[in-house]
Amino acid sequence: MKTTLFSILLALGCLPAAIIARAANPPLVVVPGEPKFTWIESDDPAVADLVRTGERHIDHVGGSLIGEVNRVLAKNSAGAAVDLLHLRNYPLPKSLEGQPHVTAIKRTSLRVRNPVNAPDEGDQLVLALIRDRMSEGLSLPELLVQRVDRPGLPVEWRVSKPIGVATRCLTCHGDKEQIPLDVQAVLELRYPEDRATGYTSNQWRGVIRISLEKPAPPAAK
Ligand code: HEC
Repeated sequence: MKTTLFSILLALGCLPAAIIARAANPPLVVVPGEPKFTWIESDDPAVADLVRTGERHIDHVGGSLIGEVNRVLAKNSAGAAVDLLHLRNYPLPKSLEGQPHVTAIKRTSLRVRNPVNAPDEGDQLVLALIRDRMSEGLSLPELLVQRVDRPGLPVEWRVSKPIGVATRCLTCHGDKEQIPLDVQAVLELRYPEDRATGYTSNQWRGVIRISLEKPAPPAAK
């Protein structure tokens, strides 16, 4: 079966605790201190263009990630594939005039392999919210939207979407004992602090997050 981000997301929906529902938005939370993270309703018309752009890029990143896993595993041994994944040269999309522009793309999780992907404070809020909702058997929002205010800097808008684990991800993220020995050897060498094993198929893995800035207002004529 062809695996798409959609099927990974759908697979998450198979978990009894994780029914993906666009309508269920998290409560508004303002975290004290700097930077300031604020939840925004994903269907708030004021952020419609940001959410649309963010989701489009998340779906593209997710689709590319899965396509690449399939391609790379078809052509290489799993051990060699470790150094080829994921999306190492994925460029930030070009800014189009009048459109929100993407300032960062992140894949993060409560259990990361590469410390570079570790969640920052805002990501931790997103991940904790998903984890708590799942453990309470509540529905998950399809998208989580945050506004990030930092003194003297443009507002950062974040759109995050949960992703799940497909069967072929288990070659490198499954039970440690089940991971092929050549993969284990490379992982130990490259990622001594690896925490991203022990997953099972359809389990929640983390989020893809896109950071955006609103376009500058048109210059006065
Ligand atoms: C051949 C091994 C391999 C396979 C297969 C693989 N991954 Fe990874 N994964 C890695 C490596 C290596 C990293 C750390 C490097 C990086 O930052 O991308 C990683 C990191 C990640 C991260 C970033 C968070 C972190 O732990 O650092 C996510 C999310 C992720 N993988 C999801 C997936 C998903 C979903 C699949 C299946 C569609 C998958 N992986 C399949 C090797 C693999």
